[in-house]
Amino acid sequence: MDFEIVNGPVEAQETECIVVGVEAEGKLAPSAAAVDAASSGYLKELIDSGDLTGKAGEQQMLYRVPGIKARRVLVVGLGKSDERKDRHYRKLVAALATTLKKAGIASATIALDGLASDQDDVYRETRQLVEWISAELYQYDTTKSKKADPIRLERIGILLSEDDTELGEGALLDGVAIANGVSTARDVGNLPGNICTPSHLAERAISLAEQYDSIKVEVLDEAQMEALGMGALLAVGRGSSQPSRLIVMQYQGGDADEKPHALVGKGITFDTGGISLKPGAEMDEMKFDMCGAASVLGAMEAVAEMQLPLNVVGVIAAAENMPAGNATKPGDIVTTLSGQTVEILNTDAEGRLVLCDALTYTERFEPASVIDIATLTGACIIALGHQATGLLANDDELAEALLDAGEYAADRAWQLPLWDEFQEQLDSNFADIANIGGRPAGTITAACFLSRFTKEYRWAHLDIAGVAWNSHGKEKGATGRCVPMLCQYLLDLAEQVEPDGHDHGE
Ligand code: BES
Ligand code: MN
Ligand code: ZN
Repeated sequence: MDFEIVNGPVEAQETECIVVGVEAEGKLAPSAAAVDAASSGYLKELIDSGDLTGKAGEQQMLYRVPGIKARRVLVVGLGKSDERKDRHYRKLVAALATTLKKAGIASATIALDGLASDQDDVYRETRQLVEWISAELYQYDTTKSKKADPIRLERIGILLSEDDTELGEGALLDGVAIANGVSTARDVGNLPGNICTPSHLAERAISLAEQYDSIKVEVLDEAQMEALGMGALLAVGRGSSQPSRLIVMQYQGGDADEKPHALVGKGITFDTGGISLKPGAEMDEMKFDMCGAASVLGAMEAVAEMQLPLNVVGVIAAAENMPAGNATKPGDIVTTLSGQTVEILNTDAEGRLVLCDALTYTERFEPASVIDIATLTGACIIALGHQATGLLANDDELAEALLDAGEYAADRAWQLPLWDEFQEQLDSNFADIANIGGRPAGTITAACFLSRFTKEYRWAHLDIAGVAWNSHGKEKGATGRCVPMLCQYLLDLAEQVEPDGHDHGE
């Protein structure tokens, strides 16, 4: 799919379909007014007869409107101005993308005049249009014998004024890069455990490095991790016949001596729980337990695509958590890369075990900030449901930056406290730390565990257990959540380096 910024009168657009908006109570947005004028009142007549109202969610496909070059005019209802939140804009974009797809047309031009959302930010509105249309057209077919029918829609024009064109073009480039990153994260996330193994994740990172000269990759095998002393990460994969991997991608977009920002992903390619075996119901969904890793791959791809003037390190801790005769048992004690010992009271709390060694390893890059992304706790779903990512951090400024980035990118997080009081729940009689903290505040104690390994740098933890995938029906599948937030965080940092880049508002 190609996106393009276009200019000129809406009635003269050479395309199969133009999309214009009507506000509540039949008020024509400027492009719709232009269509109406060119067609001697065609839209007003529909409004007068009650066939068109401008209610939010309304869609009317009109054919051969007099005076309009395009064969079709799709009129969408924009609703009342006070109804226009991100959520409504996303619904509107998704609905119009579905209509365009179903209409089987190859090209369309969207002329919503900035009135479809409540914002006065052409960059953001345009970027969201690109991201959300792409997300709506996403189809997974890697493991289907019959491939999905190709989508006929090939080109989408976004009609902007001449003045907004430059801003729109920047938004379009960023939007396409982020959309591709999201799509990669969904593709990787959706793969089954028998295909997406730790070695497969490593292969994905290697092909990313082949695609972009700005990315270098290094993959540590079990012998190398053993030699380093990554006892916690290795304990998780011990029962699996799939060898564990530590995958390190280095993107260089800034000066060589500039401190990198690190993204660290949980890559459990299947989580049975290990000897602390999970119940059988819906266990298939534990193939999604590498969605943190998938979002690191997606974000790295987007960063390379946008050529951000920063250095970024992507680290993936990849292992499969299986029960076996040689698997780690409850009560086993391991020594982590940091030297601290851990009593593994529950082998199902494995994410923090792979992450703690990956986080210690990350110290060697002297990072300016470190963000880990993980489907870490079922408790996060209880606390925040399926809308918000859980955010915990040892640095308020970093937490704030991520919350803002999530807000701007419509990929939001909500902060939970990382108070010292919670740390006691991790006390062990036999090791330095226990790997579980009991039922209360499970998301917080998981983050407390990680905080023991992140003292050397500014760190934030994103628990994506509730948002990384949808569980039901046709929607079942990975969401790519956190790629937009992470990209926005990095875009904002890039903006500080190169302030004449795009204006991201606020
Ligand atoms: N991958 C799971 C967390 C999870 C569960 C994410 C369900 C999404 C849906 C994680 O490894 C896990 O099993 N966590 C345990 C921790 C507990 C043993 C302290 C959990 O949440 O039950
Ligand atoms: Mn688990
Ligand atoms: Zn897990």
